[in-house]
Amino acid sequence: MAVLQGAEAKLYVGDFYGRPCIMKERFVKNYRHPTLDKTLTSQRIKSEVRANLRCKMSGIQTPTIFMINFETNSIYMEEIQDAVTVRQHINTVQASETNPSLVFEQLQPLAEVIGQTLAKMHTSNVIHGDLTTSNMLLEGDPKDLSLFLIDFGLSSFEASAEDKGVDLYVLERAFLSSHPNSQNVFDCIISAYKNQMIDRTVCKEVLSKLNEIRLRGRKRTMVG
Ligand SMILES: Nc1ncnc2c1ncn2[C@@H]1O[C@H](COP(=O)(O)OP(=O)(O)O)[C@@H](O)[C@H]1O
Ligand SMILES: [Mg+2]
Repeated sequence: MAVLQGAEAKLYVGDFYGRPCIMKERFVKNYRHPTLDKTLTSQRIKSEVRANLRCKMSGIQTPTIFMINFETNSIYMEEIQDAVTVRQHINTVQASETNPSLVFEQLQPLAEVIGQTLAKMHTSNVIHGDLTTSNMLLEGDPKDLSLFLIDFGLSSFEASAEDKGVDLYVLERAFLSSHPNSQNVFDCIISAYKNQMIDRTVCKEVLSKLNEIRLRGRKRTMVG
């Protein structure tokens, strides 16, 4: 039985030769031409697996991929057990603490780990493409800050500052809409990103792109 159903995929929990496993099956989109659908779906699967591996090679935790089945459009991967999404964790902290500065204090170490992880990812030229707090998992006790990145179906391999800036902007929009009143936590992600980026020139370019895109976004909202 599917445990989770997203816009693009169903997820099933099981085991793979005795190891806890998630099967992520991308379903057929009937509104698309069958050949186009098949091509897009297998591209997503390839991007997902490729970026997952590239991240792992850069020292970022990702679920280990066990197997891919292109017939059924499924990826079999390690289940991160007792995991909560960063989204759930932030919601729990916000719900259990009313004092805003204590909320910030509790979330700051997590924000730092997120910023450092994204800097490592961008240093390897992986663009996630769908950065949200639902696509980040915390394994075990959230206080251990064992962060996993998941859901790389929209990822690409891209060196440009523009794409990295857009990646951060996507996260900012998702972050602030999922977690209102937490601009300070997001700012903390960005400053940790800044500290972690080894290449200062690239870092500067990415952050100035981020600002540029923010301004464009704001202008659009003012006009529209
Ligand atoms: N390897 C995994 N281990 C544990 N939970 C997972 C794993 N992969 C996905 N999940 C859970 O399933 C949800 C949806 O998976 P995701 O890959 O993000 O698919 P979608 O494209 O539907 O967003 C995640 O937000 C997470 O809660
Ligand atoms: Mg997802």
